[in-house]
Amino acid sequence: MSEIIEIKDLVKRYGDKVAVNGISFTVHEGELFGFLGPNGAGKTTTVRCVSTLTNITSGTVLVDGVDVVKDQIGAKRCMGVIQQQVSLDKDLTIRENMISHAMYHGMGKQERNARIKELTDYFGLEEYLDKPVDSLSGGWKKRAAIVCAMLHQPKVLFLDEPTSGLDINARRLLWDVVKKLNQSGTTIVLTTHYIEEAQALCDRVGIIDHGKIIALDDPKALIERTGKIAVENMVDGKTEYHYFPSMKDAQDFVADNGLDDATVRKTNLEDVFVELTGKSVGDQK
Ligand SMILES: Nc1ncnc2c1ncn2[C@@H]1O[C@H](COP(=O)(O)OP(=O)(O)O)[C@@H](O)[C@H]1O
Ligand SMILES: [Mg+2]
Repeated sequence: MSEIIEIKDLVKRYGDKVAVNGISFTVHEGELFGFLGPNGAGKTTTVRCVSTLTNITSGTVLVDGVDVVKDQIGAKRCMGVIQQQVSLDKDLTIRENMISHAMYHGMGKQERNARIKELTDYFGLEEYLDKPVDSLSGGWKKRAAIVCAMLHQPKVLFLDEPTSGLDINARRLLWDVVKKLNQSGTTIVLTTHYIEEAQALCDRVGIIDHGKIIALDDPKALIERTGKIAVENMVDGKTEYHYFPSMKDAQDFVADNGLDDATVRKTNLEDVFVELTGKSVGDQK
């Protein structure tokens, strides 16, 4: 399996603050990779380091074999980035934003126009092309930002919290867009603090907390390692969680302990996170 991103001992400090604390991982070519963690865990900083938007304190990052510190321009050529706050120019229409992005990447007019047509058709954006950015809803803005970032045909696309702030409908639609892009061959790295997003979309998930990766695997394996079935029961007003490798084990536990009111359900990535850190993904610290 070829690795399109190779990160080794990445550290990013802001003064005394260590935002990313020595992380190493690789992303396989063609994969949909998720970075899951609570607010302040270091997701955005990692994406910003890898995509050359901020300087690295130490460590090495290769994207498609290109060292992002030694050859920023070369690295930028093979990636597209969509930041959490969409960075489209509000004074321009969607088409004008696309043209400006294409010019930044030195694309000729003919190539640019063909690519704009291809991508707007693909993402159903035609009717919005000549509208100002702010006339679009959050979900469509995000889609337009993805088209901009995909214009120069990057092999890797970074999406920082792509569905944060979107309503549930727009979120599902965007999931489809992300899946479709990935199926057409683009490697995708997305960050999220939504458990169900990581679980629904990602081939592999890296769980990040306090600037460190604390687990990395496919969601199914992470869940199986914790125990596929969860039993929740209340003890003195506090929920206790127990995990079991099978439904039979869980039911035996419930029966043996007379826990008639317990909830028996499938384990999810939230459980994995809580088990690893002793806190929930929604917690700030
Ligand atoms: N420009 C900055 N200056 C100082 N500290 C920062 C800066 N950007 C991020 N941080 C800090 O680094 C940590 C990681 O932040 P971030 O990468 O934004 O986390 P996440 O995206 O997972 O929410 C946080 O404690 C945050 O306050
Ligand atoms: Mg962030």
